Amino acid sequence: MLEARGLVKSFGALEVTREVSLHLPAGARHAVVGPNGSGKTTLFNLLAGELRPDAGGVLLAERDVTRLPSDARARLGLARSFQRNNLFPDLSVRDSLALALTIARGQGAVFWRRFARLPGLAGAVEALARRLRLEEVLERPARRLAYGTQRQLELGLALAGAPKVLLLDEPTAGMSAEETAAMTALIAGLPRDIAILIVEHDMEVVFEIAERIIVLDYGRVLIEGTPAEVRASSVVRQRYFGERAP
Ligand SMILES: Nc1ncnc2c1ncn2[C@@H]1O[C@H](COP(=O)(O)OP(=O)(O)O)[C@@H](O)[C@H]1O
Ligand SMILES: [Mg+2]
Repeated sequence: MLEARGLVKSFGALEVTREVSLHLPAGARHAVVGPNGSGKTTLFNLLAGELRPDAGGVLLAERDVTRLPSDARARLGLARSFQRNNLFPDLSVRDSLALALTIARGQGAVFWRRFARLPGLAGAVEALARRLRLEEVLERPARRLAYGTQRQLELGLALAGAPKVLLLDEPTAGMSAEETAAMTALIAGLPRDIAILIVEHDMEVVFEIAERIIVLDYGRVLIEGTPAEVRASSVVRQRYFGERAP
């Protein structure tokens, strides 16, 4: 569904992405892990179209999208959430979801005038709110939601376009243990027709969600494999779990 082929990206003299390739089949759940500054967000920006690679390419459903901007990739079924909060603070949960749904349907221009009259919109908003466990806070402005709930709403906005591929950049960053558990359950429960690539520093979350893990190290793929393979890898154990070489 999503493929990266030999992506390379530098900022000035700093080589941040070094020949990264990955393959995310339809419905798969893969994770990208690695220390701060290893190039995880840059990789997401390359995949989503916010950055252009210096070399290499991106394929979405077997189509070369390397030269397409992020909005065109979104229309082809690629959605992402951001590492930082990205909401309209004064808009209610209901209106935020309604706006995202009307934009996803290409009807954003009519939103402010008469969105209440768009056929099926109210039901779609409520279905999305149920999936995100936001039914209780539909009338609340985003800025008055707890932090974890704001991140749930963000996930809802990303899901509004019925994506085929979802990129999640540190969805549990800054969350309490309960919020992390709730978000993990939400992500794990998403329909299997959505392929998910998640950047996450919490290894418990990674092991719960991901079938395959890509470990980045200074912009390079250090190892890629199943959770068991990654756990068993001596180089990962030494670098990330502080074990000494045998
Ligand atoms: N727009 C940019 N301009 C210059 N340097 C950048 C830019 N974006 C990221 N970097 C640098 O690239 C490296 C990788 O950053 P990033 O992809 O955000 O890593 P991660 O998400 O793994 O923490 C860091 O050293 C960061 O400072
Ligand atoms: Mg990052």
